[in-house]
Amino acid sequence: MTATAADINPQALAALLYFYAESGVDELCEDAAIDRFEQSAKILEARSRPQPNAAAPGETGRTPAAKPPLASLGDGRKNAAPPPVAAAPQASQLTIPGAAAFEDARALAASANTIAELRAALEGFTGCNLRHSAKTLVFADGNPDADIMFIGEAPGREEDLQGMPFVGRAGQLLDRMLAAIGLSRDTAYITNMIPWRPPGNRTPAAHEIELCRPFIERHIVLAQPKLLVMLGNVASKSLLDTDKGILSLRGTWMSCKAGETETPALPTLHPAYLLRNPAQKRLAWADFLSLRERLDQIKDS
Ligand code: URA
Repeated sequence: MTATAADINPQALAALLYFYAESGVDELCEDAAIDRFEQSAKILEARSRPQPNAAAPGETGRTPAAKPPLASLGDGRKNAAPPPVAAAPQASQLTIPGAAAFEDARALAASANTIAELRAALEGFTGCNLRHSAKTLVFADGNPDADIMFIGEAPGREEDLQGMPFVGRAGQLLDRMLAAIGLSRDTAYITNMIPWRPPGNRTPAAHEIELCRPFIERHIVLAQPKLLVMLGNVASKSLLDTDKGILSLRGTWMSCKAGETETPALPTLHPAYLLRNPAQKRLAWADFLSLRERLDQIKDS
């Protein structure tokens, strides 16, 4: 039998919620993924269609509430009650990325001539849905003049709260990995593919990655690092333009094209993956040694 909130006294409920929060459960998600874009596009489309029995605004003095297309809301849940009209996102609150959003992203990113301008451009960019659920823009940390730039996936909960990349547990591991090869946030520049936390730390969707791509590419062009390190699958696959997974990509130097620049790039395992799979740290260590060697070659040349 499943207990409901009514079966539990308030103290026990508070303790349970505290336990969840402590365990990192800080978002309420559905069991199955719901495509909100598809859902809301259908609602908006239905609203724009003339309603057969709708009263004209002049008759009642109020515009009748449009009904969502109940049968077509399919979100994968059997017998799910369709959401009431009031629960549907308003057009003003939601962003369905169309061609204009991608064009906007490209134009805004291209217009930035300094890293500070790029940050301001991202702050002004409203085309990515993630910015509406995130608390802060997580732009970058470390030294923008460093020879080396690390690119992760997207901020997590701690990063979202502090507005800084890699400050949670994965970030602390990254700091230790940097220290092991004589680097720190004074000698490395750190950012992410996506500057806003995806809700519940889900993997960013393909359209979110594509919307943010012009900004990270411009970031690389403006920072002009001599070497790039892609941390994990998302940054490696999208910036190195490959379908291969990180386990086959890692450890091999490649070239990352951003604008007119080509930068030597090393895909390696994400520190969050290493926290879950500590036995793989030896692979990351081999990659970091290769990175140290490459940095030394740059210093000597
Ligand atoms: N994981 C990332 O990819 N980036 C962060 O900033 C934190 C965790």
